[in-house]
Amino acid sequence: MIKPLRGMKDLIFEDAERFLYIVETASQVAKRYGYGYIETPILEETALFKRSVGDSSDIVNKEMYQFEDKGGNDVCMRPEGTAGVVRAFLSAKLDRQPGKYKFYYYGPMFRYERPQKGRLRQFHQFGCESFGEESVYEDFNVIAMIAQIFDTLDIGYRLLINSLGCPACMPEYREKLVGYLHTHKEALCEDCNRRIETNPVRVLDCKNETCQRHLSEAPKLIDNLCERCNDDFATLRCLLDDAGIAYEVDTHLVRGLDYYTKTAFEFVSDAIGAQSAIAGGGRYDRLVEYLGGKPTPAVGFALGIERIMELVALPEKDREGYYLGAMTPEAVAPLLKLANELRRYEKVHMEYGPKGFKSHMKGVDKQRARYAVLIGESELENDTLWLKDLETKEEKTLPCDAFLKTVTAR
Ligand code: HAM
Repeated sequence: MIKPLRGMKDLIFEDAERFLYIVETASQVAKRYGYGYIETPILEETALFKRSVGDSSDIVNKEMYQFEDKGGNDVCMRPEGTAGVVRAFLSAKLDRQPGKYKFYYYGPMFRYERPQKGRLRQFHQFGCESFGEESVYEDFNVIAMIAQIFDTLDIGYRLLINSLGCPACMPEYREKLVGYLHTHKEALCEDCNRRIETNPVRVLDCKNETCQRHLSEAPKLIDNLCERCNDDFATLRCLLDDAGIAYEVDTHLVRGLDYYTKTAFEFVSDAIGAQSAIAGGGRYDRLVEYLGGKPTPAVGFALGIERIMELVALPEKDREGYYLGAMTPEAVAPLLKLANELRRYEKVHMEYGPKGFKSHMKGVDKQRARYAVLIGESELENDTLWLKDLETKEEKTLPCDAFLKTVTAR
């Protein structure tokens, strides 16, 4: 038997419905915030992710599904969505047409991680990317949008925020931090030691408890922000307070992707185990330029659909559509005709095999159909059908064409 690959899974029945419910809810909210749908390829040149997500990140270093295609190109299955959307933004030359551009997307992402609960090798994200808006109001908007999505889905969360500074304040802070890290080198783990040289800020986010103990006194980014970054971070906090969106400032939140500047945030859930991040994002004002475009401020987020699926209860479904059942073999043909007509307007389940009344009524319940339509011998003779509304419990026998007329009129 061939099984799915490790860390990859099928979405079937309730899981598939839950997946669609999350995507549809998030898409609706995104559209209300002025975002339009974008679809970008799953395969991109490896260089795109190396440059954007960052050479020193775990994603690029250890987790990429990278291979040479038949034409000898170095390609990669996207580990995240932002890089591809920025590439598409540049391919469409939107950096040269000043304006505000907002995109939402969803789809599979691939990271060759060690699979565990909440951590897959193929998982799905829903994400939004907003280009051309420098104001911190947009950072707030993006966070408020996620809060609205989670509220609509009726799931709880904690919001963590931090500021990662900008090119005016980051280099100086980095130097301070590297100085501190060097004095604690011996106590820090191997990964942290490697990062002191490649990406010292990532050290702050090490999960190792010994490292964390030694980092408690490390200089904090938010104490070293330039005036602009400081003001923006204060404004963001005020806006969140005013909107009643609770948050915690987490000075060690640095995110695992290298492209962030200024606002960084994560939504976490305490109800799904160790892999608790259900959404993450932030501002990435340098990335468009870094990938060869004109300087364009940008901010965005992605949420992890599988992790959210653990938290979402599907709303109770109302009865819907028609169940058509034949009680005699000759009734199949007229019912099939009726089904084709009805399907222009309504969901129809048709049961071909002739069955008795009780068995059909069980089928009606199983399908959660609102209406039962049955044709037996006497209905066939008179060109009528038997109809029951399962909500009002009303039932009647009526001519087939009169029935169709009422449905089309509705
Ligand atoms: P990220 O934090 O790497 O950010 O991923 C976003 C979300 O994807 C996470 O919060 C988590 O819910 C989910 N996720 C990540 N890895 C896995 C995995 N292995 N298994 C299951 N779920 C996972 C980004 O990808 C950025 N592109 C977000 C962004 C958009 N920033 C700006 N714009």
